[in-house]
Amino acid sequence: MTLSTQLLNWYYENARDLPWRKDKDAYKIWVSEIMLQQTRVEAVKDYYQRWIERFPTLEVLAEASEQEVLKYWQGLGYYTRARNLLAGVREVCATYGGEMPNDERTIQRLPGVGEYTAGAIASIAYDRRTPAIDGNVLRIFSRLFCLDGDITKQATKREVDHLVRQHMPYNCPGDFNQALMDLGATVCIPRNPRCQMCPLANLCEGYAREVQDTLPVRPVK
Ligand code: ADE
Repeated sequence: MTLSTQLLNWYYENARDLPWRKDKDAYKIWVSEIMLQQTRVEAVKDYYQRWIERFPTLEVLAEASEQEVLKYWQGLGYYTRARNLLAGVREVCATYGGEMPNDERTIQRLPGVGEYTAGAIASIAYDRRTPAIDGNVLRIFSRLFCLDGDITKQATKREVDHLVRQHMPYNCPGDFNQALMDLGATVCIPRNPRCQMCPLANLCEGYAREVQDTLPVRPVK
């Protein structure tokens, strides 16, 4: 089996049950990804549900006042995220007639949306075959392929980007990206990774060489 098949089979058995996974609506995925940028999954769940009840569509949010929007963000912190999200949905209404753009490059031009978030939205909502590389994905791939270059260096990140693109399936790229998020959160964790239960252990060079715990390599301070 290929890496992506093994990972997806595991994901379909073990995916976390998260409220933003019930629906592939691009606006809802956008909201969840912005909330998840600097906040943990457990804390986001309730905020996300309250938000979607009050602002179920992009149009509803676009017409809300900033004051009310901030009230629904109250407690999540990093309020620029909420202001950018509001500016972003207003831009989608004004510029794209209320239709979210479906390619990662256009999505990335929205305020507050970086490369990772654009990749997550485009792959999850629109099945675009585009990576969403965060610290979890850097860790997983540096272990899988025994990459021992400094993970904070652009050259190492490019290597990971290349490998992720090679291994992304043509079907369900969004599930592939979310499977990596779950693997990084529950199995391929920073300290004492749970290799015994890893669906990719048979493919992992770091595990084979028993160096998984030393990866990814960071510069000594
Ligand atoms: N972290 C960032 N995006 C996520 C998602 N879609 N599911 C779980 N964790 C995430």
